[in-house]
Amino acid sequence: MESWKAKLIIVGVDGSDASVDAASVAASLARSAGARLHIVTVVKPPEGWWGIIESPPTASALGNALEEAQRKVLDLTTSRVDLDGIEYETVEEIGDPGRALAGYCEQHEADLLVIGRHGAGLFDRLTIGSVTHRLLHDAPCPVMVVP
Ligand SMILES: Nc1ncnc2c1ncn2[C@@H]1O[C@H](COP(=O)(O)OP(=O)(O)OP(=O)(O)O)[C@@H](O)[C@H]1O
Ligand SMILES: [Mg+2]
Repeated sequence: MESWKAKLIIVGVDGSDASVDAASVAASLARSAGARLHIVTVVKPPEGWWGIIESPPTASALGNALEEAQRKVLDLTTSRVDLDGIEYETVEEIGDPGRALAGYCEQHEADLLVIGRHGAGLFDRLTIGSVTHRLLHDAPCPVMVVP
């Protein structure tokens, strides 16, 4: 990794306070580095619905509900984080969150992934979240974990 420079920063958000904090850190970094920022939320459809989701999501009520939930997470994040002067995009992905975020970083050649230590999950405060755990193993780029 020669002369690393943050040109594209990815932050994963799930609507939790921890992920809003992660997005705030990512935004500050993006601003000072002059980097682009992608704010990504991944929704995992309930088992058995893959066939329906893979067809146009608008074709199913469940797809609409999931999309709406993602929109809410993104709106909440952009309303709570100072994004002034940052070139940013909001992105909705479908799948396993850890896998999808790792894949997204790889596809877009991200320079840095920012995530919270915990997320919206209610249990297991003593360990790091399972999405974070997975990304610490699988991410193709440097990862910053925000407590
Ligand atoms: N669906 C998601 N889309 C995008 N980013 C996510 C998603 N879920 C989690 N993250 C990112 O990962 C961080 C840690 O969340 P994680 O899900 O690992 O913890 P948790 O919800 O507390 O635990 P668990 O989900 O294992 O019960 C979040 O702060 C967020 O940055
Ligand atoms: Mg979680």
